[in-house]
Order: sequence, then C-alpha cells, then structure tokens
Amino acid sequence: MKYLLDLIGNEIQAAFAACGYDTTYAKATISNRPDLCEFQCNGAMPLAKSAHKAPIMIAEEIAQRLKESVLFETVEAVKPGFLNLRLNKEALSEYLSNIAKDEKLGVNAPEKVKKIMIDYGGPNVAKPLHVGHLRSAIIGESVKRLGRYVGHEMIGDVHLGDWGLQMGLIITELKERKPDLVYFDENYEGEYPSEAPFTISELEEIYPTASAKSKEDEKYKEAAMQATYELQHGRRGYQAVLAHILDVSVTDLKKNYENLKVSFDLWKGESDAQPYIADMAKKMQEDGYAYSSEGALVVDVKEETDAKEIPPCMILKSDGASLYTTTDLATLVWRQQDYQPDQVIYVVDKRQELHFVQVFRCAKKTKIVPEDMELTFLGFGTMNGKDGKPFKTREGGVMRLENLVADTNKEMYRKIVEGGKVPQEEADQTSKTVALAAIKYGDLSNQASKDYVFDVDRFTSFEGNTGPYILYTMVRIKSIMKKYQEQGGKVECGNIMPAKTEAQKSLMLILARWNEVVENAFADLAPHKICAYIYEVANALNHFYHETSIMGEEDETKKAGYIRLLNLTLKVLEDGIEILGFEAPERM
Ligand code: ARG
Repeated sequence: MKYLLDLIGNEIQAAFAACGYDTTYAKATISNRPDLCEFQCNGAMPLAKSAHKAPIMIAEEIAQRLKESVLFETVEAVKPGFLNLRLNKEALSEYLSNIAKDEKLGVNAPEKVKKIMIDYGGPNVAKPLHVGHLRSAIIGESVKRLGRYVGHEMIGDVHLGDWGLQMGLIITELKERKPDLVYFDENYEGEYPSEAPFTISELEEIYPTASAKSKEDEKYKEAAMQATYELQHGRRGYQAVLAHILDVSVTDLKKNYENLKVSFDLWKGESDAQPYIADMAKKMQEDGYAYSSEGALVVDVKEETDAKEIPPCMILKSDGASLYTTTDLATLVWRQQDYQPDQVIYVVDKRQELHFVQVFRCAKKTKIVPEDMELTFLGFGTMNGKDGKPFKTREGGVMRLENLVADTNKEMYRKIVEGGKVPQEEADQTSKTVALAAIKYGDLSNQASKDYVFDVDRFTSFEGNTGPYILYTMVRIKSIMKKYQEQGGKVECGNIMPAKTEAQKSLMLILARWNEVVENAFADLAPHKICAYIYEVANALNHFYHETSIMGEEDETKKAGYIRLLNLTLKVLEDGIEILGFEAPERM
C-alpha cells in the first residue's frame, strides 16, 4: 500500500503544480510540533527567490488549493511560509481500515525478491559463547526476520569457527589424558566409535586448560600446532575427533540459541570452506591476481581513492597455511556455487571491518563473486558494563552468555513475583520470556554500530524505552480484550472508526506508518527503527487508554470500534516484536 506520507505528498505536489510552482520541494514531513499540526510542508521557502514572492504568499496560494482536498481537515499557511496540515478523520480511518484488513498491515512486496544470505552468530566451536556473540546473534536474527517480513528470501548461516588452532589444542589435551583411545593410534584402520569420547562439560573444560597450557609450555604449543596441521591434512583419527567435537558442540549451541529464539538455516563452518581453498588459490594465481610476496600469496586490494592504506589481502602464508581471510573467501566460493545469492550480509564486530573490506574487494577483483553481488558488512559496537568498559563478570573475567541470561532471568523473576500478577507456576516461564525481551530490546534499540551499556536494572524496568514496557502494553491490551470477550463481545479486525479524540487520532496516525517504517528499517538494515517505532506505538496506546473509558463505554458500536483499534495496535506490536525476535506473555 502507498505510504500515508506519500498520499499526502502527492496531494501537495498536485497543489504546487496547479499553482504553477516547481514540485521539487512539494514534500510532506511529520510535524515536529504535534501541538500545532500533524504534517507540514516547508516547500514555499526555497521557492521564494525564483518566484519573486514572499514565502507566505506562496504558502497561502497553495493552502487555498489544498483546502479543496478531502485528505485534510485543516490547512494553514503560517509565517514565514510553513504549511501546517491536519489530516481529515474520515480519510485516516479509511486508510487505516485498509491496513487492518491487509495481512501484512500495508507492507508492500518488494519489486524484486532478493536471495540474501546472512552470516551471523559466528560462535567458535568448543569455546563458550560470550557476550560478543550475543550481539551478532540478536542483530542477525532480527535482520533475517525483518527481511522475511518484507518478503525477501533470507538464508541464515551460523558460520562456525571450527577450523583453528583450538581444534589442535583440544586434540593435544585429549591425547594427553586418554592416550589409549583408538583415535590416536596411527595404525588403526577400523571404524571409529559413534559415541564421543567426552561430554560438553568436559569439552568446555578441556579447551581453556589446553589454551592456558600452550601459553606457558612451548612444546605443548608446538604439539597443538602439529596436531592442527595433521588434522587439516587429513589424519583420519583426528578428523574423527573433530567430527565428535562438532557434534557435541553444535548440539549444545543449538540449545543455547534456541533459548535465545535464534535459529539458522545452515550450520556451515570454516571447515566447510577448506575443500575450496587449493583451487581458489591456484586460479587466483593463474588469472594473474595473486602473486608471491616474501613467500606468501597475496592479492592487492588497495584503491586510489583510499584515505588510509589498505594492505594486500593474504591468501596463503609462506608455509601454505590458510588464514581467516582465506576461509572467508573460500566460503564465498561455495556460497556462490550452491546458492548464487543477490546479497551476503555479515553481522560481525565492527573491529573486523578492515578484514571484510579486504575480503569483499578481493572476492570481486578475483571474480569469486559476480560484480553485482552485494556484500554488506553490518558491524556492531561493543556491549559495555556500567563502567563504560567491555562487559565483564563481577570478578573481572569474560562474561559468558549463559550467565548474563541467567542474571537477567533472576532479576526479572524478582520483579515478576513482586508485581504479583502472575500465578506462581507461571512465574518462571514468564520471567524468562520477559527477560529475553529485556536483553534483546536493550540491544536492538541502539543503532547497531554504536557501543552501548548493558544495564540490567534499566533493561528489566517496566517503564521507559524497554522491552518489558512494550510487553506490558501488549498484556494490557490482551487483558482488555479478554474482559470484552468474557462479556460476550467479539474481537475482530476490520473497519477502524474515525477518531473522536486527539489521543485516539495520534494513535491512529502512528499505526498508519507501519509499512513505511518497516520498509525503511529493512532498507537501512536497522532494527533500532522498529524499536523506536513500537515504543511510539506503546506510548500512544497508553495515552489513549488513560484518556478513554473503553470498557465503560455505553455505546456498543463505539466500544466495538475501540476494540478493533486495540486489536490492530496489538497486531502491529506483535509483528514488531516478532521481527525483533521475542514474544509476549499472557500476563505479567
Ligand atoms: N568466529 C568469528 C569470531 O568469533 C566470527 C565469524 C564472523 N563471520 C565471518 N564470516 N568471518 O570472531
């Protein structure tokens, strides 16, 4: 559906044209003085010079025209040359009724459906998830959902970090502890056991132990590097161990992500790119893009317009080993081969930006991907603690994701029980549902590229710009609708009646913007725009609720009309939080 703002814009353009003026400036914006008007147009001012007229005269002429339009209730020309507009109530109710009847609430199908792969999560196998991974998961999941809502084909890929030294470290430590396992017997030719030789908790303990040892013990480190090398060069027993590590890790990761309501279509990892590396490097050389520099294989990616020096992209180290860049390039090889996406979006810590600049340029230059494939880096900032430094545990260690979630759950539980609105048996589940909203909204309400402070007290508050406040508003609507149903009323969608009060009209005006907000949020890959919008919706709803006696309304037709408006508000909020990746409880 056409945006409300565009409908208004068209009307203004027609008026400009009819008065013989250039329509370049004939635009409507939402008023920043809602006390004076709902929409405004400032186009008369820039016209003054060429038209040799005072802006107020131009504005008055145009106002005369606009007054004939059924779209407006009032049109005013105000000095020095503003046009202040209020929308006609019937026109607004008609527009919103059409939105209410549309399954997508007025959001338009894209002109061209794009196939978009989104690379997010990026957990490292056998290492615990930390808060940095949380941001990638939360933002990526939301962008994926936003893209789907808008109508694109979105493919989420977790891109596991499953190919580094950490694998060699685990193998080395395991070998020290259990040297008799068949995996370490080089002469063993039989099948390997299907059961993993460790559990997830052992694995989580093995890795940090091995990592600490390697930092102190040079021999141990060499052994781990050797193991990594042998693993990467096809040693059977080690590859069987790797398969177990992956299995055990992925099962655990899936559980963790499920708790976060995050899911992936593909569980590919760095190791899946390995088979493509040799051919890729060879071709880059043959085509004359890659050359050897101090033994290493590199591709130049600097461009004349660069403000700062972009170093060459390293493809292979002098010992033939591959790097993080190599893996990301080879990953693009199979992404192109198997999926031919129109776009690949990477949701990664913004400190990795240079790496991606190199990868993107190199992939285009060496023709791994077609020229028109969009490669997008969506870099996010750091989650800080209240001291403004990267979020840590109270003891100063790296904060694990599960602990952060557990702490938030606990605080939420306290608040939910204190509130006394949730039966004891539901308290636990409700706290978890609301806590997840607190965490995700707290993160997503900030522009992704910015650092932000994780503040449990603020994020879990039922008031202010928080996830729980949004949910609280939704619960409020649900409870009114339930009461209405208990009294025999039927909740339905459909016609939205013309507003009787300012509070009602404000709510309606905001709801009418859903399509524009969603499409813009996707175009900018900016879930924070959805947050800002649903916060506005929630505020407007609560204002309307306080000003209006909904259940006390005696005129049944009017009351049913209110309920339909509430129902539409709830739908907008539901779609909004679905895009953000959380849910609302029945009560809280
Ligand atoms: N595993 C990486 C990390 O923990 C993130 C991976 C990001 N994605 C990518 N295609 N490089 O930093």
